Amino acid sequence: MQFFADTAEIDDIKELASTGLLDGVTTNPSLIHKSGRDFMEVTREICELTDGPVSAEVVALDHEGMMREAEVLRKIADNVCIKVPLTMDGLKTCNALTRDGTMVNVTLCFSANQALLAAKAGATFISPFVGRHDDNGFDGMDLIRDIRQIYDNYDFDTEILVASIRHPGHVLESALIGADVATMPPKVIRQLANHILTDKGIEGFLADWEKTGQKIA
Ligand code: G3P
Repeated sequence: MQFFADTAEIDDIKELASTGLLDGVTTNPSLIHKSGRDFMEVTREICELTDGPVSAEVVALDHEGMMREAEVLRKIADNVCIKVPLTMDGLKTCNALTRDGTMVNVTLCFSANQALLAAKAGATFISPFVGRHDDNGFDGMDLIRDIRQIYDNYDFDTEILVASIRHPGHVLESALIGADVATMPPKVIRQLANHILTDKGIEGFLADWEKTGQKIA
């Protein structure tokens, strides 16, 4: 499973990239706003910090406008992945861009039929939003299960990029289902490493090591 960081915070991306565990980055207009940074500038910096796909989202709603914005965004770096909304214009744009060899992430997916359309449009990634689905009384993981089955039924190459992840449980279930990518807030990536018994184990080993009076040198 690939791990993407769902953030536009450079310090977090730098730190996660240094662990070797980071496979890419996703951003959206809200995350750009939260960072307080210039969109083009911060996207360029992020693209230099990872070799993996960096999703940058268009804001136009019509196909021609999306194509114009995609043209600007894809010049930033070779690893830019154009993020388009799951609308008919977004799907048309996805089709045109992927035919041209550009990576496309189709975002704001809330149904398996939407995911089916994105795959037919040649999407590189489909982004089902599990947290927001849960928030609205649905089961985000059922959505991932349905998409996995449909994509496997027809051998679609589109990768399932689980988005709107809120906690490690979402990551575990996504991995069990066989989702291809999990994009997570940096806090959730760090939480994956935490376990109370790991902390207690370290504490016990260090206390005993201290008693030996030895040093590793
Ligand atoms: O990048 C899209 C998605 O991950 C947003 O998550 O927490 O705003 O629903 P959230």
